[in-house]
Amino acid sequence: MTEMYAEQTKQQFEGWEEFYNQSVDDKLEMFNRKGRIFDVIYAQQFNRPFLDQLGRLADFIRQLAKTKMGSQKLRTLLAHKRAMLYFVQPSTRTFLSFQNACYILGLNVSEIRGTSTSSEVKGESPEDTIRTFASYVDLIISRHPEAGFAEKTAWVLNQSDHPAPVLNGGSGPDQHPTQALLDIYTLEREFHNIGGLDGKRIAMVGDLKRGRTVRSLSYLMKNYRDVELIFVSPEEFRMRNDILDFLRRQEIPFKETDDFESIMPAVDAIYMTRIQNEYASDPKSEAETFPDFHFKAEHLQRIHAHCAILHPLPRRYEIDIAVDSDPRAAYWRQERCGMWIRAALIAYIFGVDDEIVSEFD
Ligand code: NCD
Repeated sequence: MTEMYAEQTKQQFEGWEEFYNQSVDDKLEMFNRKGRIFDVIYAQQFNRPFLDQLGRLADFIRQLAKTKMGSQKLRTLLAHKRAMLYFVQPSTRTFLSFQNACYILGLNVSEIRGTSTSSEVKGESPEDTIRTFASYVDLIISRHPEAGFAEKTAWVLNQSDHPAPVLNGGSGPDQHPTQALLDIYTLEREFHNIGGLDGKRIAMVGDLKRGRTVRSLSYLMKNYRDVELIFVSPEEFRMRNDILDFLRRQEIPFKETDDFESIMPAVDAIYMTRIQNEYASDPKSEAETFPDFHFKAEHLQRIHAHCAILHPLPRRYEIDIAVDSDPRAAYWRQERCGMWIRAALIAYIFGVDDEIVSEFD
């Protein structure tokens, strides 16, 4: 338990509630500047040209980083910039991949990984804490247990005279837009020889209700032609209606089932997720892992030769470790894709993307 010296101060920001309650589409303009994305809050901010552009940029960064000369060039690009990693909810991959993406581009990084060492224990409001970061750094990357936190800080900073872009590294069970970027980047690469993500059938499996990764990834499917989704989950963890309504509006076909084995032969990718036990109100259910929604070694013979198996990780028992050595197991490649696509995103945010692309002209 974190020792608190004082109860956290709650501040009322005039206009915030009104802004927050608007539809996402109506809010997106707030997070743009000069026709470019400035803050990354929602997966709905990304369109197809942006996703294609970012994937290409990530490929270039990856290629440059392979040589000493190339990586030196990359490190000069943002050597004059500083970033803050504010991660007050557990994270391994998102934290490390963002941190290393910053190193690749030469940014200096500061970090806070829990409220126990920041002035929040003295009762400072989270909004004042974030505003303080903006006094020192040029970019804020945050992960927070509350939905809407990254959005609120971006909104508060955008009205200040010293805004810094905010990247949402996970907002409770709500969204994880940069995870969706890396998932798309991974799927496009895995399907490189078979026409990319267009026309593919994707199963999402596990805790679809509280898993933010599958929510953000579902939003991005509107950018791809003839994609079909199959949601596979225990009854109590079905995908929420807001996503299902979105898919209906976008005319993206989807199916829901609790019979994992039956759909295995029919899909081009399987996106596994763990049960998000940390959001359980009943501590007894913290140990539950739902074995019917695990991908076992014997399932490898049921899936297509080209089927890609993804997982945002961390895994618990959802995928047998014997699956790891199969070429279709894409999750370790996926985790690495996270670093490259986040480097691409940061390069884009600071407008040095053209400098990278011009290396390949
Ligand atoms: C995911 C998350 O934090 O939402 N992990 C990640 O960012 N790679 C998935 C999870 O925790 O289950």
